[in-house]
Amino acid sequence: MTPDQVKLVQQTFAKVAPISEQAAVIFYDRLFEVAPSVKAMFPADMTEQRRKLMATLAVVVDGLSSLDSILPAASALATRHVAYGAKPEHYPVVGGALLWTLEKGLGEAWTPEVAAAWAAAYGTLSTFMISEAYGKAQAAE
Ligand code: HEM
Repeated sequence: MTPDQVKLVQQTFAKVAPISEQAAVIFYDRLFEVAPSVKAMFPADMTEQRRKLMATLAVVVDGLSSLDSILPAASALATRHVAYGAKPEHYPVVGGALLWTLEKGLGEAWTPEVAAAWAAAYGTLSTFMISEAYGKAQAAE
């Protein structure tokens, strides 16, 4: 990611932060629509889950400026996801739902540059998490 992309991700996430609860609802609705099979992996009451997701995204987005600072936590998060039943092939699906949610939430602020910056951010994070949890060969696929 370029420094400009990091800035774009941070600035646009700040716009979504005030509506983070609704954004999380939209995100999981979208995820379960495009990948109904993953719904059973999550708790029935998603209230806490929505809060945790948005809190973690806030930490990650903040940490993009000094990536090394968040890698240990991202590695631990990736390892916990193996126990949740997450597979490498789920990561692009989650990324798609996340970008879709941001597009809806940001409206006209969702420009091609912003889209590319978020794709780069999610790509960096998910490639690292897959590699930590399943090994480098999987991440390269
Ligand atoms: C970069 C991508 C992702 C981020 C930032 C993320 C974030 C989180 C966070 C913060 C939690 C709360 C629990 C914890 O901290 O361990 C969580 C739980 C969970 N995530 Fe993810 N996640 C990601 C990708 C995925 C993927 C690809 C799947 C696969 C379907 C997935 C499925 C789950 C499930 C099933 C739980 C909760 C299970 C439970 O409470 O029993 N996540 N995720």
